[in-house]
Amino acid sequence: MPRLLHTSIFRIALVYLLLLGITLAVLLGVIYWSTAGLLERQTDETVQAEIRGLAEQYRAEGLVRLMEVIRERSGPGGSKENVYLLTGPRFAPLAGNLAHWPAAAAGEEGWLEVELARRDDPSGVPHVIRGRAFDLAGGYHLFVGRDTVERGDFRDIVAGALAWAVVPALLLGLGGGALIGRYSLARVDAVREASEDIVRGDLSRRVPLSGSGDEFDRLAVTINAMLARIETLMGGMRLVTDSLAHDLRSPLTRARSAIDMALRHPGKDEGQGAEQYREALEQTAAELETILRTFEALISIAQAEAGVDSLKLNDLDLSALAGDLLEVYQPIAEDAGVELNGVISETITVAGHRQLLAQALANLLDNAVKYSPSGGRIDLTLRRGAGGVAQLAVADNGPGIPAEDRDRVLQRFVRLDDSRGTPGSGLGLSLVAAVAKLHGAEVSLDDNAPGLRVTLTLPAA
Ligand SMILES: Nc1ncnc2c1ncn2[C@@H]1O[C@H](COP(=O)(O)OP(=O)(O)OP(=O)(O)O)[C@@H](O)[C@H]1O
Ligand SMILES: [Mg+2]
Repeated sequence: MPRLLHTSIFRIALVYLLLLGITLAVLLGVIYWSTAGLLERQTDETVQAEIRGLAEQYRAEGLVRLMEVIRERSGPGGSKENVYLLTGPRFAPLAGNLAHWPAAAAGEEGWLEVELARRDDPSGVPHVIRGRAFDLAGGYHLFVGRDTVERGDFRDIVAGALAWAVVPALLLGLGGGALIGRYSLARVDAVREASEDIVRGDLSRRVPLSGSGDEFDRLAVTINAMLARIETLMGGMRLVTDSLAHDLRSPLTRARSAIDMALRHPGKDEGQGAEQYREALEQTAAELETILRTFEALISIAQAEAGVDSLKLNDLDLSALAGDLLEVYQPIAEDAGVELNGVISETITVAGHRQLLAQALANLLDNAVKYSPSGGRIDLTLRRGAGGVAQLAVADNGPGIPAEDRDRVLQRFVRLDDSRGTPGSGLGLSLVAAVAKLHGAEVSLDDNAPGLRVTLTLPAA
């Protein structure tokens, strides 16, 4: 309950209630004042008409007739609201339904409003009476007025209406505010609980949807998409750190045991010892080389993934670059006993980063040589495709990659089981994918029947 009072919706509801209450009160107030004014004018007119009638009678037939008329009119047959009093010179009542002469002095235009007891009201409660007093010839006095009980009744009606309108409106508004507040609180609580679980480490937790498609649902969908992205990124990070730790362990362990061996078994004579130290250092240097290559590959991938903002793409002669790499890899392929052929269209330029593109192509050629059996054949082709795109492809006739693994091998540190025997850390194709993304290019891995064909499709310069 106290939490409900603190929700913004409940507070807004309270403010609206206050405004509603004020509006209702002002509205009824205006109605009251204008109607009360009207009633007052009517009272005055009635009294005035009464006075005119009585004056006529008095003028025509004298005091006795006036007394008669007043008796008649203030009797049970007359109007209940009209009051009269005719007194002698010493204010002793002669006729009428007022108990005694009003003590107050007349106000504007001879009108007075006084509280007086009525003769015809046995309770003796004073009534508020509005009327005028006159002096007649012979020292007689006449008061003609009207009981304002109607005005009081009307005020009670308006006050009643105010109560009947305002109290239920306030209760309804309060209830509605509480209900909406509770609803929004429940929805926010769902988000809060999910977030708390995530803070506690459960990255797979998601914000539940109500299915109504309202603004809370839309917010939840966005939050869930964000959480999914974070989970993927965290998974990727974990994979990288785990794999890196695993990958660095073996070369570091091998380097340490080489050093240990050399230190523990020094040669008997000078020359032999020097030879052993030399071997140990060479082995260590080779292992360090592996580690450095892994780091360099990771840094290149990070660089390419960081995007175009930090790297500038320049017009680049892709034909020349492919030709250079073909020249570099031909002797390597020859050593491995595979044939490397190139079909390169001239003067194909793209907007590109020379070093990263060269590294990506080198990785593809390296894989082709590494995974092809001796006697195999590799084809490097560069040609213009539909719409001026540049198509760079490396195809071999080795074991190939099963269709279901073709997406996976583009991730960092992923190596297929068949390749465990060959050196490598599973970063080559990740760099190719990152470089492709940087260039807005597409990588596709296809079956070369047999073997693997990797095609990079770069947009026209
Ligand atoms: N041409 C290919 N033929 C068959 N399998 C391949 C070929 N190229 C890549 N693969 C498979 O994809 C995996 C990932 O290749 P990637 O180039 O990313 O890593 P790697 O060659 O194992 O190591 P690195 O390139 O970092 O030295 C390889 O381990 C291998 O299983
Ligand atoms: Mg490779």
